[in-house]
Amino acid sequence: LNLGVLISGTGSNLKAVLDAIAEKRLDARVNVVISNVATAPGLEHARAHGVPTLVIDHKAFPNRQAFDGALVESLRAHEVEWVVLAGFMRVITPTLLDAFPLRIVNIHPSLLPAFPGMHAQKQAFDYGVRIAGCTVHLVDAGTDTGPILAQAAVPVLDTDDEPALRARILAEEHTLLPRVLQWMAEGRVTVAPAQDGARARVS
Ligand code: GRF
Repeated sequence: LNLGVLISGTGSNLKAVLDAIAEKRLDARVNVVISNVATAPGLEHARAHGVPTLVIDHKAFPNRQAFDGALVESLRAHEVEWVVLAGFMRVITPTLLDAFPLRIVNIHPSLLPAFPGMHAQKQAFDYGVRIAGCTVHLVDAGTDTGPILAQAAVPVLDTDDEPALRARILAEEHTLLPRVLQWMAEGRVTVAPAQDGARARVS
């Protein structure tokens, strides 16, 4: 599995993927890590694992399509087959989607379809849910929509504040994302047409 990972920040999910590869729990290669933020701390994780890094600053482009065009060009140049959005804080356009149809994976810190968009953990905490979690899904044209591949749930405790809940969810993200990528490496993920849209199946 030739991966390209897109990040904007801390990159702890990127680190989880790189660690899983190093520990041979994940049969994949990260061909390139691209950040739209030059100072993203996550770039250090890539460097520490000897993975090529690129900074492509969205502000240098006139519009989203042009930015995504530059992403596609770099991903292709690095022979990327699957794109992983790991804390990539940009809305993507058909330019990127059509270049990697059903080959873009996102990790989102809620049990979708609840709480899409920004600050999902805060949305869940403020709502007062008793079960929260994270979702790995294939990316389509919507925001945090697209066929769901796997989810992990965590309890919300009475003693929690929002950072505590966020940390509990993040720990699950670090397990779930490499596991789903390994399913892909094993060719176990298929997307079947369902009544209202596509649905992912894992065999
Ligand atoms: C994670 O919570 C992820 O689900 C969300 O953004 C956060 C990124 O964290 N999309 P990190 O950069 O991987 O540490």
